[in-house]
Amino acid sequence: MDIRLDATPIEQYPADVLVTLAFENQQGPHPLNAAAGGWFDDLRESREFTGKLFEVAILHRPSGLKAKRLAVVGAGPVEKFNATELRKVVGSAVRALKAKSLTNITLSLENATSEQITAAVEGAILADYEPDRLKTDAKKGEKRLAAFCILGPATLQPALDHGRTLGEAQNFTRDLVNEPANLMTPLKLASEAQLMAATFGLDCEILDRERMTQLGMGSLLGVSQGSAEPPAMIILRYTPAAASTADHLALIGKGVTFDTGGVSIKPSDGMEKMKYDMAGGAAVIGAMRAIAQFKPQVTITALIPAVENMVSSRAQRPGDIVTSLSGKTIEVLNTDAEGRLILVDAITYALRLGCTHMVDAATLTGAIGVALGHIHVGAFTNNEPFLGKVMSAAKSEGERMWHMPLDDDYKDYLKSAFADLPNIGGRYGGAVTAAMFLKQFTEDKPWVHLDIAGTAWLDEAKPFLSKGPSGVAVRTFVNLATNW
Ligand code: BES
Ligand code: ZN
Ligand code: ZN
Repeated sequence: MDIRLDATPIEQYPADVLVTLAFENQQGPHPLNAAAGGWFDDLRESREFTGKLFEVAILHRPSGLKAKRLAVVGAGPVEKFNATELRKVVGSAVRALKAKSLTNITLSLENATSEQITAAVEGAILADYEPDRLKTDAKKGEKRLAAFCILGPATLQPALDHGRTLGEAQNFTRDLVNEPANLMTPLKLASEAQLMAATFGLDCEILDRERMTQLGMGSLLGVSQGSAEPPAMIILRYTPAAASTADHLALIGKGVTFDTGGVSIKPSDGMEKMKYDMAGGAAVIGAMRAIAQFKPQVTITALIPAVENMVSSRAQRPGDIVTSLSGKTIEVLNTDAEGRLILVDAITYALRLGCTHMVDAATLTGAIGVALGHIHVGAFTNNEPFLGKVMSAAKSEGERMWHMPLDDDYKDYLKSAFADLPNIGGRYGGAVTAAMFLKQFTEDKPWVHLDIAGTAWLDEAKPFLSKGPSGVAVRTFVNLATNW
């Protein structure tokens, strides 16, 4: 896609569609009202357009402009407007216009800041994404953005490039997540990570089953043993030319390429969605793609334990006891609580590699969706100041996260008579007991766990995003790394 800035004055620019914003409670006339022959006044008077979020209206041949069409998009109340809203508003305009085969879009933003330019570009790129790679309709390309231009000075180019890198990284993540599990196996995820690493200059190492057996990753291997697809521990390394700190950040992502539940099998209704059980791993791989380009001054290692959780005569059984890399034994009471089993071996390995701080993203529990719906990511920690950093990274990227409790008392929910700990708690607080399970393996190193099970997949399209994978957590990870 062609994305660029153009410093031509707005009246002079020969756009195919020129997009402008209007607020719900805008004081005074719209700046383009005169050039548009009073169109904005007419719209308000007729109540055809009120400026509510995501409303769109189109005027052909505006008299005082060189543009063929003028489109106005509702930006909501002016006092709530910020970069996060702008990302969505631009996205909604792009989706509304491309649905009408208008794919050459120019945006006019008055006195835009760098932050706004970045958000606008991200909004356009994210809105352009469709989860239709495997549809054979030859015309689907006609509804993809061909060009996106923002009217503004060349000094804003770095902000535009930044948004482009982030938006593309997030869409890369969405592509990985959207791929069906017959095509996106653990080894395929590993080869996608390798290819990305080779393209952007990262180091990539894949631990195979043999190596993981040697190391003693019994908790991960137990999950994988029921599948004909071999497991992989994907490791991506970013080393700065000059590190500004001795800190070493680990980004860890759950990479279950399909979760049947195993012998504790899931209901068949909706099981097809379990291809998105590697969304945490995909978010980490996408974030590393952007990190490789932004080159922050902190050492970062990404670890993605990738497995398929299947049912077979070789599958692990409820009651099996496995020995994790940490040496702790785990009683597998429910084979569907597999995410935590693969993550703890990745956490222990990250500690062995010398990581000083860890953040993981995982579609870990259905319970987080019960608690927070599809709006907030659940954020857990063993270190409040570190969570504060992650939350502020999330806030500046417009990714909503909610601080969940993790008091020591929850440890009482994890008692096994036969092993060091069971892999599930009782009936209550499922997202918290899952996080508490992970916490037992963090050796008190600063750690944040993001449960993205409720937010990594959209069951319905939004005005600014298609149905399917959301790419949540990518921008937060990148922001955390670049502002370390
Ligand atoms: N992958 C699921 C969690 C999940 C559920 C992700 C819904 C996305 C949407 C996870 O492996 C799982 O099955 N967790 C169980 C844990 C339970 C057995 C304690 C769950 O949430 O039901
Ligand atoms: Zn599961
Ligand atoms: Zn799972």
